[in-house]
Amino acid sequence: MNDNDIKKRLVLALDVEDIQEAKELVELLSPYIGTFKVGLQLFCGYGLEIVNYIKEKNADFFLDVKLHDIPNTVQKASFNVVKNGASFFNVHATGGIEMMKAAKQGAIEAVEKFNKKKPIILAVTVLTSISDEILKEELSNTKNSSDFVIELAKNAKKAGLDGVVASAKELKLIKKELGDDFIVLTPGIRPKWSSKDDQKRIVTPSDAFKDGSNYIVLGRAVTKAADRLDAIKKIYAEIKEEMK
Ligand code: C5P
Repeated sequence: MNDNDIKKRLVLALDVEDIQEAKELVELLSPYIGTFKVGLQLFCGYGLEIVNYIKEKNADFFLDVKLHDIPNTVQKASFNVVKNGASFFNVHATGGIEMMKAAKQGAIEAVEKFNKKKPIILAVTVLTSISDEILKEELSNTKNSSDFVIELAKNAKKAGLDGVVASAKELKLIKKELGDDFIVLTPGIRPKWSSKDDQKRIVTPSDAFKDGSNYIVLGRAVTKAADRLDAIKKIYAEIKEEMK
């Protein structure tokens, strides 16, 4: 992979408390990161301010808002997400096929009305915080999480969504069951030299790519590094070395 291919496939999670720190990360890392992920923490705190800053720096952004509501509301929210320029956004697959279709519909309407680039719409299947026990005891779901993930991913595909967010553990199975062109974005990534933090199932950037991941999410491995620029440069070097 060359530098350009790597950049396109790297997503950085801006999981920080204040807007100044988020802006510093974007300023420093936009030469290396194609897409910045704005999650609920930052978006609820600073709304469009951070999004507009990312756009100013000519980077893409992923609005990680995990929409889950009645189809009409999700359609209108998706319209606004795309109107504001998101390249990626996501919805909960447990909202159902009709809701996911509504998300796509809202996105298409905004693409046409504002002449925007078609966004990548991803489904969240089963949150990694939901264990098989919680699925059974609290959510009355008798499937194990891996079967449920595949079922929900199939629903997302039926609804016309582009792919799913999935941990490295499910990556190969999803590609096998859903096909190669169904996009998988993988969090829980740690380069060889980095600490695991609270992630239980981690994988290195190059292993995620080798297993078929289209995009990988980098978080604390970069944002909490003593030298963030050095961290991202080491990640580039590691990917190039492992994927020669
Ligand atoms: O810092 P770290 O690399 O663990 O950050 C991972 C990012 O990916 C966070 O924004 C987290 O919310 C997100 N994520 C995850 N596991 C999932 C889905 C999303 O870690 N299953």
